[in-house]
Amino acid sequence: MFYIISGTNRPNSRSFEIAKLVKPLYEKNFSKVEIINLEDLNLNQLQNSHYGDSPKPPEVSSAIEKLDASQGLLVVCPEYNGSMPGALKYFIDFWSYPKTFEYRPVGFIGLGGQFGGLRPVEHLQQVFGYRNSFILPNRVFIQNVWSVLKDGKIENETINQLLKEQAEKFSLFIKGLEQQKLSANFL
Ligand SMILES: Cc1cc2nc3c(=O)[nH]c(=O)nc-3n(C[C@H](O)[C@H](O)[C@H](O)COP(=O)(O)O)c2cc1C
Repeated sequence: MFYIISGTNRPNSRSFEIAKLVKPLYEKNFSKVEIINLEDLNLNQLQNSHYGDSPKPPEVSSAIEKLDASQGLLVVCPEYNGSMPGALKYFIDFWSYPKTFEYRPVGFIGLGGQFGGLRPVEHLQQVFGYRNSFILPNRVFIQNVWSVLKDGKIENETINQLLKEQAEKFSLFIKGLEQQKLSANFL
């Protein structure tokens, strides 16, 4: 199972459009691919009492259980005020360590203005690096996303090629780790 996290709960987000757009690239190599859209998780129902092992709203628990068993996950992350959306970090802060993170293969697509989401992706790399995940070296940054994403398609051949290459490399990355029984589900 491979998961794509659409990294914001903003309605009609471009992140969700991009998650839908790359999903078929992953379906070529993984038998089941699913998008976890933060918009569907009712993060406003999460309260401080839900941290740790205490019960969480069912859709949040279910999403975390899926991630805990995932072969890999791809985070599509927009830039909000020079970093990742607070909603994404809030969601991540309800995951468990080491289960959700450690040796989990993780990849990133950034989107934003001039820097294409470089900053939030690098912040995420710090978070996942700190939590001992395996980070895919191939990152894709979509600059001025509002001018290249039209009607659910990216009108830029270089970016489309980079997304395709990222999906291919991600599959090889996971297969290599699985062959050596190194990725999270083998711990
Ligand atoms: C709250 C907010 C803050 C933003 N801050 C930045 C920013 O600091 N740098 C940037 O390049 N773009 C910024 N943007 C533009 C977004 O990266 C861009 O609109 C992107 O499409 C948003 O992703 P989304 O459609 O998935 O929400 C911001 C957008 C929002 C909604």
